[in-house]
Amino acid sequence: MKYLVTSALPYANGPIHLGHLAGAYLPADVFVRYLRNMKRDVVYVCGTDEHGVPITINAESRGITPEDVVKENHELIARGFEMAEMSFDIFSGTHNDIEKELSQDFFKRLDKNGFISVRNVEQLYCEHDKMFLPDRYVEGTCPICKDPGARGDQCDKCGNALNSLDLINPKCKICGQTPVRKTSKHWFLDLDKFEKRLDAWLETKENWKSNVQWFERGLEPRGITRDISWGVPVPVEGAEGKVLYVWFDAPIGYIAFTKELFAKRGLDENEWEKWWKGGEDVKLVHFIGKDNIVFHSIIWPAMLMGQEDGWKLPDEIPANEFLNLEGQKISTSRNWAIWVHEFLERFNPDSVRFYLATIAPETKDSDFSFKGFQDANNGMLSAIYGNFVNRNLAFINKFFGGKIEGEIKFSEEDDKMWEDVNRELKEILDCYETFRVRDAAFHIMEIGRIANKYFDTMAPWALRKSDPERCNGVFVNCLNLIDKMATVLEPITPAASRKVKRMLNLPEVFDFTKLCEHNISNGIKLGEVEILFGKIDDETIAAEKSRLGNNH
Ligand code: 2FM
Ligand code: ZN
Repeated sequence: MKYLVTSALPYANGPIHLGHLAGAYLPADVFVRYLRNMKRDVVYVCGTDEHGVPITINAESRGITPEDVVKENHELIARGFEMAEMSFDIFSGTHNDIEKELSQDFFKRLDKNGFISVRNVEQLYCEHDKMFLPDRYVEGTCPICKDPGARGDQCDKCGNALNSLDLINPKCKICGQTPVRKTSKHWFLDLDKFEKRLDAWLETKENWKSNVQWFERGLEPRGITRDISWGVPVPVEGAEGKVLYVWFDAPIGYIAFTKELFAKRGLDENEWEKWWKGGEDVKLVHFIGKDNIVFHSIIWPAMLMGQEDGWKLPDEIPANEFLNLEGQKISTSRNWAIWVHEFLERFNPDSVRFYLATIAPETKDSDFSFKGFQDANNGMLSAIYGNFVNRNLAFINKFFGGKIEGEIKFSEEDDKMWEDVNRELKEILDCYETFRVRDAAFHIMEIGRIANKYFDTMAPWALRKSDPERCNGVFVNCLNLIDKMATVLEPITPAASRKVKRMLNLPEVFDFTKLCEHNISNGIKLGEVEILFGKIDDETIAAEKSRLGNNH
């Protein structure tokens, strides 16, 4: 079985915040690391989503080109992801030739297969700027909730998707004038023609988040072209000056990046097709935030079906809910957000990854609080895991010169302890396999508790004199416990796990297929010992809190 894993492509229109990381990236990275450690064949692709109206508006307002905006943000996003140790096989971007060619091919084939129709539609047009005003180029009052800050494509206040023609008192985003109505020719993807197939396919998916409303209303043709120049040109005559809607080319980026990856690896030109058209041998898993569900479970599968060319459909679409911040919705405009590339300069990325894992918004929205972050670091990582590592290694260094030598003796109590631990290990793998990162983190901490209890009950400090062989046996068990914890934690806290392996003088290998085998016996000599997780103090937390909502 091959696994083709993707994370939603972040818009190259600003850096990413912790809400993004918790939603579509960390859960995917944990899953991918798990798969690699299970020795399964996996490819993990991502890159920035570089087209669309918000990027051109951003560029115009700053007097720079869309390319400049994309480049700047791609770098910020990539840096944040690197600091967060996202282990993509490739992190590319959609503004390139492979993407363009594939997107145009997709369009042409849909057209040839009879799934595209053309219509003249009324649109808002600014006579001052001499342009149509798609999506966010127009602002006005929301016809549903009457909020004055609605945009042409949606109202952030009530969350409804809008048609710009319905906006009350519409204004051109560029010059502020009232636009007029004018017709423009546009191309539509006839979603209605896929209704039966989509319905039957979605029926086979248990546990998928519901799209019911969409089907109740009936699927309607959807406009897939826009009157702007930034994007993939529509590849038909009569469409000059128009580009494909960003949501048409974005998911095709998943394919383009796979192609690019294999080309970089110097593999056969058609290798990528084995994945994208690999049928049952491949599992295609799209990690997304809940706002992307409709696109990934309806529109994108329709685009793939409409090729009639053996493309795989998504097998799983783990869609996370949203992360709030200190009890409020994350808002970039109010600076109620934590930027990944900044935060990870100040805090241990593993602590952040771990806390986000424990609050993963898997089934409902969850809340990031600084107190929670501090507690997860100080109470779990430092007090349970770090403490166990430290008390053992420090003891062995102090009294045994960093070595376990001589005979060892095990007892029935050890077997009992390992039974409990092995049960947890099995459970943890099951959590990883089924996208339950949160539960995985808690089960790992359970091993930490078992381990600390074992240490306290066995009291090796007393055995040192009374029964040295038994003392050795206890330490060998404890070191193996440390090794197990570090191994199963690798998907969540990769840097700390590597550190532990070095301290144990073991290769930095995390093999989940050999979890029940013990790597350590007498004769072990420790490597250099370091602190795993420091504490985060109250002042640091207070300082972080005061940054929120301020424009620092
Ligand atoms: O919502 C977003 O951030 C989009 N840029 C996600 C695109 S996912 C994919 F389809 F490309
Ligand atoms: Zn205007």
